[in-house]
Amino acid sequence: AVAISVSMAALLGLIAGSYEQITFGYRVKTDEKEWTCKADFTHHAHTASISSVAASERFVVTGSKDETIQLYDMKKRTEHGALLHHNGTVTCLEFYGSSHLLSGGEDGLVCVWSTKKWECLKSIKAHKGPVTSLSVHPSGKLALTVGTDKSLRTWNLINGRSAFIKNIKQNAHIVRWSPDGSKYMVVINDKVDVYDLETASVTGTIINPKRISSVQFVNNSVVAIAGDDEIVRLYDLGKEKWVCDFKAHETRVKAVDSFIMEDYCVLVTASNDGFIKMWKLLLKDLEGPTLLGGVNTSARLTCLAVWKPSSVPLLVGAEEPAAEAATSEELVRELSKTKKVRLVEEVILEDESKPKKKKKDGGK
Ligand SMILES: *[C@@H]1O[C@H](CO)[C@@H](O)[C@H](O)[C@H]1NC(C)=O
Ligand SMILES: *[C@@H]1O[C@H](CO)[C@@H](O)[C@H](O)[C@H]1NC(C)=O
Ligand SMILES: *[C@@H]1O[C@H](CO)[C@@H](O)[C@H](O)[C@H]1NC(C)=O
Repeated sequence: AVAISVSMAALLGLIAGSYEQITFGYRVKTDEKEWTCKADFTHHAHTASISSVAASERFVVTGSKDETIQLYDMKKRTEHGALLHHNGTVTCLEFYGSSHLLSGGEDGLVCVWSTKKWECLKSIKAHKGPVTSLSVHPSGKLALTVGTDKSLRTWNLINGRSAFIKNIKQNAHIVRWSPDGSKYMVVINDKVDVYDLETASVTGTIINPKRISSVQFVNNSVVAIAGDDEIVRLYDLGKEKWVCDFKAHETRVKAVDSFIMEDYCVLVTASNDGFIKMWKLLLKDLEGPTLLGGVNTSARLTCLAVWKPSSVPLLVGAEEPAAEAATSEELVRELSKTKKVRLVEEVILEDESKPKKKKKDGGK
């Protein structure tokens, strides 16, 4: 296939879900000083508010209170049907590679989807009570989930089984791996506990002034935190202190995402006030981010995804999982016995509950 060769700078999209059931897609023009957002598509397939969104190179997926996952094909620019599997709100969605999608729901299930035919390869009863958040390790070998049963679960994606259950004594609502995969954040109300992969113990705790709505690693040591107010705060895990905060919106910030451009970081924020904004943050000095541009969707936004259709990882360091550095950890040692790090598809089909049949690889 002949790739459409638009200037590299133009290949950035912002996608946001809303209470109003609509998904908004924008193309961002990044080749001028002020970044402008051009309406790209709107997708109104849900019949209730949207709770989660994720984007791969080709697809945008949204989860909703209406219990469905709706697919939008960015290449054909059409809707691509719905995935009906969860009983209750679809609370979290995350792609790993372009081949798989994980979904989590109010029904306590985590489902592994193949993006080739959009079939459910595996459905796991992950938590007693709703799954609130999930995160896939940059290596594609592990996933973490949290739910309302006060547990943090580690999943071995190689065999699709639960590897670890940790009682964290409270209900966490967000879990997030660092770009290098050496640590992860677990968010409980206004608190972030930072865990080390190697020891599975808490190495740092951040208390935000407000209940946390969204967190994002800017790099492996700096995290951006949005709470139930209009401020975004940045915390340096190494220095163990807040390094910057700024008023991003007029009302509550609902979601924050970030990616690295050349020598700076771009924070993207979405709010109840209807705006999606992009902020330039110099990694050398985190003083005062500058507004690159934004757009008024005029909807109450609930979730956000950045679409960068390239093989370049969104976050710096994401291509080099730190699994090597964590060999003393039992689980990681076990996982590193297999060399099938990225062959997740093959790996999942090895699960005992499925016939041991290898799928033919259609491409490349
Ligand atoms: C869906 O969940 C509700 C409430 O937990 C339950 O009553 C119902 O039986 C479930 N339906 C299916 C198809 O599992
Ligand atoms: C992350 O960014 C901070 C702030 O600029 C910088 O001091 C630090 O060295 C960076 N850390 C890593 C691991 O890249
Ligand atoms: C955003 O758009 C809505 C609807 O078009 C409008 O009512 C509102 O005033 C706009 N907000 C700002 C700050 O311009």
